[in-house]
Amino acid sequence: MGNTKVLGLSGNVKRPSRTASVVRSIVSSIEQKFSVESRVIELVDAAPILFQALRADQLDHSGRAIIDEVEAADVLVVGSPVYRASYTGAIKHLFDLVDFRALTGKKVILAATGGTPLHGLMTEHQLRPLFGFFNALTIPTAVYAVESDFSGHVLTNPAVSERIDRAVSELAHLFPNGTIKGKISQPGLYEAV
Ligand SMILES: Cc1cc2nc3c(=O)[nH]c(=O)nc-3n(C[C@H](O)[C@H](O)[C@H](O)COP(=O)(O)O)c2cc1C
Repeated sequence: MGNTKVLGLSGNVKRPSRTASVVRSIVSSIEQKFSVESRVIELVDAAPILFQALRADQLDHSGRAIIDEVEAADVLVVGSPVYRASYTGAIKHLFDLVDFRALTGKKVILAATGGTPLHGLMTEHQLRPLFGFFNALTIPTAVYAVESDFSGHVLTNPAVSERIDRAVSELAHLFPNGTIKGKISQPGLYEAV
């Protein structure tokens, strides 16, 4: 089924971005394993549009299109830089504009990058509860990376890539048989049919 929609959302407010690199790596890992339509939105582009509206009923056409895309996705890959021990205000604002019913049952892979490994649990303490509010299904394995995991802004640490593979394998478990088609990258762990 080629119309499973995967949307990457990266909370970075500058470019180039390590977070966007992680989000793109996760989305591309999903693309390699499954037949999906995918796109990545970086908040560095979306936030100036979305912050023109303080409420959903104030969104202009281009802001509404961004929120519609979030609400229409089957799978979200949500990553953020750690800012002040949480996700960026830009990504919070985006989700404040999403209808509270729109993400029920949607699958979400969580990711973050930070300056210190000490803030690696931001995905658990901050991001995961946000999607608990939305009744979304967050994938158990979250991805976290720090500056030393990158060469420039390109992800190079194989341990982080392994976590990406694990998260994507767990994603397959949450699709009923036949919903997501693709190669079986880890036989025995799941069967994509
Ligand atoms: C305003 C600001 C606040 C930050 N706060 C934290 C923090 O609380 N904990 C942390 O580990 N890193 C913090 N950082 C570092 C960024 O999370 C880190 O450099 C991240 O990888 C940047 O991602 P990006 O390249 O996608 O922008 C902060 C950086 C900025 C600019």
